[in-house]
Amino acid sequence: MHIIQAIDYNDLSKKAADRIAAQIRENPDSVLGLATGSSPLAAYGLLIRQYEQGKLDFSRITTVNLDEYRGLGPENSQSYRYYMDRNLFDHVNIDKSRTFLPDGLGADPEAVCRGYDQLLEDLGGTDLQLLGLGHNGHIGFNEPADAFPRDTHCVNLAESTIAANRRFFQSEADVPRQAYTMGIRGIFLAEKILLLVSGQAKASILKAALCGPITPRVPASILQLHRDVTVLADEAALSELR
Ligand code: F6R
Repeated sequence: MHIIQAIDYNDLSKKAADRIAAQIRENPDSVLGLATGSSPLAAYGLLIRQYEQGKLDFSRITTVNLDEYRGLGPENSQSYRYYMDRNLFDHVNIDKSRTFLPDGLGADPEAVCRGYDQLLEDLGGTDLQLLGLGHNGHIGFNEPADAFPRDTHCVNLAESTIAANRRFFQSEADVPRQAYTMGIRGIFLAEKILLLVSGQAKASILKAALCGPITPRVPASILQLHRDVTVLADEAALSELR
């Protein structure tokens, strides 16, 4: 595991964008595993800027996102499809038919999950998987549990996750209670993983994930077992690790 210290969120975003851009240049047919949330947001903006400057070509890139809320469609401004379209896909020359997220509106949750795992199999996993870290240690929406979830599944979101997501919705009642998420196996199919962590509020959970026991109570702790993980974190997030 490599740990790279960024100064702050801006620096972290620049370093993250540079790594993603390097992956795209090195292999223009890359399969990128993407995350939503605030951690990768500015990095996506910097990738758009590189594209506009003629430095990046997304035309042969495939993307698979980690997760999607159950019950939200592409037109819902809180869906992750909407986030990805507005914050990246709409602004670069990506073929949208090769951008994948679990189908939040799928009628049969089991079929949504099995279809997503099949897709990951067919793609041979991702070349680079971006991850953020939840305040409770989740990756994707793999919440603290008694066992690590293996496959894509429909999850009941933890109260702390609902509270953390509350800021994006009009009221707490509007926050979806369920989401689809890649399981640990799907995440571990990645050749390389890039975990982005910013801010003091993540310092103790980051320490638990990197230095504590590998336990499904801290889902990100399983990353200690992946062969190629880079943790890109700012000084505040790393403050308890020194
Ligand atoms: C988002 C995702 C989540 C977030 C995590 C951190 O697609 O899978 O695991 O990465 O909740 O969220 P932020 O970056 O908003 O702190």
